[in-house]
Amino acid sequence: MSADQTGSAPSPVAAVVVLAAGGGTRMKSATSKLLHEVAGRPMLSYAVAAASALRPDHLVVVVGQLKEQVLAALEAFGAGVETAEQPEPLGTGHAVACGLRDLGDLTGEVVVTYGDVPLLEGDTLVDLVSTHRRESAGVTILTADVPEPDGYGRIVRDHGEVTRIVEHRDASPAEREIHEINSGIYVFDAQILRAGLAGLTTDNHQGEQYLTDVVTYCRSVGGRVATMQIADTIQTEGVNTRVELARMNAVRNRRLCEKWMLAGVTIIDPATTWLHDSVDLAPDVTILPGTHLYGATSVSSGATIGPDTTLVDCVVGENATVIRTHGQLAEIGPGASVGPFSYMRPGTILEAGSKVGAFVETKNAHIGEGAKVPHLTYCGDAEIGEGANIGAGTIFANYDGVGKYRTTVGRHSFVGSDSVLVAPASIADGAYVAAGSTITNPVGPGELAVARGQQRNIAGWVARKRAGTKTEEAAQAALAEDGTEDVR
Ligand code: UD1
Ligand code: CA
Repeated sequence: MSADQTGSAPSPVAAVVVLAAGGGTRMKSATSKLLHEVAGRPMLSYAVAAASALRPDHLVVVVGQLKEQVLAALEAFGAGVETAEQPEPLGTGHAVACGLRDLGDLTGEVVVTYGDVPLLEGDTLVDLVSTHRRESAGVTILTADVPEPDGYGRIVRDHGEVTRIVEHRDASPAEREIHEINSGIYVFDAQILRAGLAGLTTDNHQGEQYLTDVVTYCRSVGGRVATMQIADTIQTEGVNTRVELARMNAVRNRRLCEKWMLAGVTIIDPATTWLHDSVDLAPDVTILPGTHLYGATSVSSGATIGPDTTLVDCVVGENATVIRTHGQLAEIGPGASVGPFSYMRPGTILEAGSKVGAFVETKNAHIGEGAKVPHLTYCGDAEIGEGANIGAGTIFANYDGVGKYRTTVGRHSFVGSDSVLVAPASIADGAYVAAGSTITNPVGPGELAVARGQQRNIAGWVARKRAGTKTEEAAQAALAEDGTEDVR
């Protein structure tokens, strides 16, 4: 067997042409269909990734409608990709000809695939090229046997040999009974392709140059037409509407969940767990229902996320727990505890064993080892030392309407409930702030800062000002019980 047998890395093909000139009218979108996302990545990026598995000498994306958008996106993810323009959508054959226009005389194989088949895997293309080489074919077609072939081109055979592909609209009633469809993904011998494209006509129902007619040409010059039928038919399915996009996302997500479960992650409910392709999870992570992990989020071993949590570009350390939380660009240290109902904004860093609790919002906040911000707090632009405790309802008042300032709370300090720390505030190590204080001056080590009005009790006020109310009645009863006189 040669080195290009199924499963091993093939020697490179001459070119892969990815057709992406259609705008996707049925998406009804100002955004090119190819840039709509599946598992957090533009659809086209999957096609480029699959094509890259073939290590082609040229990887050409054919752009057309909304090309500025597509070209801009390719700048971001299409390193090494060449582009060609198809000025008008004159058919798939014309599109491939546009793709080859600048490549000169190629020898070897040219693979054609579509930009809108996000589940196609690189391994499938590798297998297709291997089949093509093994069969010494002029064209090898990726086919699928589908229950509802309407709309697809059908594979017409004679004594088992492929003779041509007929488009649904050009097919006879008998041909429409054929369930073996053309996926639109092929390997061509470069010379057969070039010669076949040169002879294409528009003599068909749609008046387009059909790439599929190259199959007929291949046969006419004595070339062999091979096929590889794929059982995992969804790999060949395109996305034309947002309904299909949602379905692709669901399948892709399901596959991602299965990949992570097989790698040792417990996912209680894959149907309500949404993962981006870019997420990284360690073995023995547990994901509870309703959890969305997006972007560059990574989770270390032993951590539990969810239920009902969304983390975007977050790093979660070992054995941390994150319950009913929304977080973005936050780092949650090992053993830290977050939630329920926490909102972690960019720049939040929780050191090991620290806690951000219920109804706490953090932003640019560095929370030291073992420090706790357990309840009802806004913690913006804060540096909180190890072991400090921030009482319920504390506000880090970081914004004076013009600038934002940072507040420091030192190691093992204790901020009483309902305090306002007016930034830039500085509370030293080992200091206390009394509950209800509004802190505007620095607090030194070992000091207790009390910054609130003195309490004054006005006896008899209720009897005088709220006479005849249930409150007064209650007061009188309590006073009678105490044996205290009515002070009216
Ligand atoms: C094509 C095949 C059909 C196959 C089907 C699989 C032809 C003639 N027919 O159908 O046998 O079953 O794909 O989906 O090839 N494109 C361009 N420029 C064009 C025309 C199309 O870039 O001028 C791109 C589209 O953006 C799309 C792909 O080619 O990504 C397929 O085009 P589409 O119109 O969806 O396919 P059909 O011609 O219907
Ligand atoms: Ca189509």
